[in-house]
Amino acid sequence: MTSRRQFLKYIPCTFVVTKYNAVLADNKNVINYKITAKKTSFSFKDNTSAELLLYNDTNPGPTLKGNVGDILRVNFTNNLDEPTSIHWHGIKNINKMDGVPYLTQDPIQPGETFVYEFPLNHSGTYWYHAHMDSWKQVAKGLYGPLVVSNSKENIFDDDLVILADDWRLNKNYEIDEKSFGSLMDWSHAGRVGNWLTINGEKSPQYSIKANSRARLRFINASNARILKFGSSLKNNNIITIDGVAVKPMLVEDFTLAPGQRIDLLINTVDLLKVDFFEISHTKQLKAFTLNVTKANNKTKDIANINFKSNWILPKLDNAKTISIRMQGGAMGNLSKANLDGVEKDFRTLATEDKKLWAFNKEIGSYEYLLATVKLNQVVILDVWNDTRWPHSMHLHGNHFFVKSKEFKENNDYILRDTYLMQAGEKAKLIFVADNPGKWLFHCHMLEHAASGMVSYIDVV
Ligand code: C2O
Ligand code: CU
Repeated sequence: MTSRRQFLKYIPCTFVVTKYNAVLADNKNVINYKITAKKTSFSFKDNTSAELLLYNDTNPGPTLKGNVGDILRVNFTNNLDEPTSIHWHGIKNINKMDGVPYLTQDPIQPGETFVYEFPLNHSGTYWYHAHMDSWKQVAKGLYGPLVVSNSKENIFDDDLVILADDWRLNKNYEIDEKSFGSLMDWSHAGRVGNWLTINGEKSPQYSIKANSRARLRFINASNARILKFGSSLKNNNIITIDGVAVKPMLVEDFTLAPGQRIDLLINTVDLLKVDFFEISHTKQLKAFTLNVTKANNKTKDIANINFKSNWILPKLDNAKTISIRMQGGAMGNLSKANLDGVEKDFRTLATEDKKLWAFNKEIGSYEYLLATVKLNQVVILDVWNDTRWPHSMHLHGNHFFVKSKEFKENNDYILRDTYLMQAGEKAKLIFVADNPGKWLFHCHMLEHAASGMVSYIDVV
């Protein structure tokens, strides 16, 4: 038997990059959930009421939990008065379960039910969200956390999801409906909000146990806001990024672009209270507080924790490079682009079609094929953000290797599914195309995706 102490020394990451198991074996454990989307009133502040679109009437939607090796089966009913679909962000999914309307499934019509069923092949922090008019449906609350555990990682006494959202509310604390579709937002940074919630609440408080370790799973569900978190601790210990274990990294603060996740390990020895702040503004906001509750548990040996990942960068000798030049938006250099095969000037695209962003001079959509690659091909997405705006680039169904400039002490490749590209930045996103199907590649600033910054890669 392995002792707890042995676990501490080496915690393997079960994220397997090169093997994909799409088999829904009969002998697997099936986790069943029932989710219904519908209009629900919600209170952001005492005595106010906002009309949201929610899963199971809660914000965030229910936290779905499973273990590596399980099958997740979600019986989903659409009780909205508009079509929808659910995407399982970060999951190396079976393509037809990926939830992209028109591309991988038909939109789920009002009153219809759809069963999502797929294997959980890797542990980590993920999330699910609407993928139909997501700029509106996500902004109104259609999302929730998805946590996949691995028994070898059960070393935490507390495990908390910290799902952050940046809402745009009006004076009455209702969703600011008037600004949906604002050309100003779509051509600039996207729908940036004015009301931060953590798990649906303003500055919530949580209690965690003393003399132990807690895992915090941060998720940024904002439409467009790049969040930045700092805490009253000098060091925040990052243990996973986009669901993937990393060599622990101590940082003073960290950035979460829309769609991204980061897990922290908090060592509560000698701690009483930790405040977390959102510090992307000049005015810092209290995000949430952890109160450490006294317990008569003994201090644990937590110094030895060493998460390790067993992923290896693929050989690049025969890699296929796909060049992607991102252009458009305000103050950009896109003068003309093709929309459905017709070349138009930027002004016409903006004012008549509400299209503002392009990959390689093509205005994208869920049905815009960027490239076709062979199964098991090593692919390099050679991306150039030739715009004046940052973009949170997300690839469906695959994690990619990227040399992130974000973590200075760690110049190595990290594995992510969503990467924040600064204005002018060039980056290579490398993945093994071992998962057949049509995989979306898009900006997770949802207004940018809606106005052209979206395409798919077909793995055949
Ligand atoms: Cu989280 Cu295509 O999205
Ligand atoms: Cu963008």
